Amino acid sequence: MQTLLSLGQWLESTSFGTFVRNTLWGYPYVQLIHFTGLSLWVGTIAAVDLRLMGLAGRRHSAAELADQLLPWTWTGLGIAVLGGILLFSGIATSYVQNAAFQVKFPLVLLGIAYHVVIQRKVGKWGQSLVTPPVAKLAGFTEFVLWFAIVTAAVYIPNY
Ligand code: HEM
Repeated sequence: MQTLLSLGQWLESTSFGTFVRNTLWGYPYVQLIHFTGLSLWVGTIAAVDLRLMGLAGRRHSAAELADQLLPWTWTGLGIAVLGGILLFSGIATSYVQNAAFQVKFPLVLLGIAYHVVIQRKVGKWGQSLVTPPVAKLAGFTEFVLWFAIVTAAVYIPNY
């Protein structure tokens, strides 16, 4: 914890940490960056998950859909992480002690790792229009995981 607090203190003292904390419009615009990125990331992931479950976009294969959305998915993550780090920098020492943030952050890492696995498998699972049961289960678990992450995130201000 001491290392995280030291890292937090350093981030708060940086120019961007000070900017986010001390300007009236810095925080909302950085929030906009975070939300734009995570809408792309979570939105495109949810589309592939729903396709894997066989609930949406059934005219195209899951492999085709995942392939077309891939650049948007990873661009979205890049934007979300940039916005997240900037938001975090403003009051980093509070966030490291925030119970909801402590749940959210490891789940984000787990979610990214899980998505990499799904992305690698979708070429095999998603060739035909009907996906196998393992693909449906993977899509469902990923959907639930990102729902849990967003839930943890919206609880951050309550702690
Ligand atoms: C890509 C996956 C991510 C998702 C789905 C996500 C989701 C969210 C959501 C929904 C909020 C809004 C909370 C609210 O105001 O109600 C939020 C806020 C926030 N996120 Fe993320 N986030 C992600 C990644 C990150 C990363 C990598 C960081 C960086 C350290 C981060 C740091 C923050 C911070 C500091 C807030 C502000 C919390 C507050 O004070 O309200 N997020 N996130």
